[in-house]
Amino acid sequence: MSVREVLRLQGLALGLTLAVVLGSSPALAQTASAERGKLLYESRCVACHSVDANRVGPLHRAVLGRRAGTATGFAYSDALRASTLVWSRETLQAWLKDPEALIPGQQMGYQVEMLQDRLDLVAFLATL
Ligand code: HEC
Repeated sequence: MSVREVLRLQGLALGLTLAVVLGSSPALAQTASAERGKLLYESRCVACHSVDANRVGPLHRAVLGRRAGTATGFAYSDALRASTLVWSRETLQAWLKDPEALIPGQQMGYQVEMLQDRLDLVAFLATL
């Protein structure tokens, strides 16, 4: 086999690999994994939150469907307490993406940059 042929075959193989990777990524972005979300929660949220106790942030048990700023016994910011927002999958996504844009004056100094991470985190929160 000539060097030229080898290079051509390598090019083909690379093209195929890229097609598989690129072809599958939009599908991946649609799917949310609560299991991965739990791992993300344990690595990124537990510094301030826990599922069953108020810490620096409010507890997350039954957060889906709860009105924002209403976990019993947590001292929320005025902004969150005054908000009439209800936590749905959509509002939780928006909160994790940019809390300040959703509820100006809030006090959670944390954002989740990646769409897939937000989808997985919300899938986990929805199991609580
Ligand atoms: C640096 C500390 C900190 C980190 C890290 C953090 N939070 Fe928060 N979070 C807060 C605080 C403080 C509040 C309350 C904000 C307020 O009162 O304005 C809050 C509020 C919330 C609320 C609103 C709950 C309610 O009862 O209305 C949700 C949902 C939430 N956080 C989710 C998360 C998730 C999911 C993560 C991990 C990706 C996370 N937070 C990471 C500090 C944090």
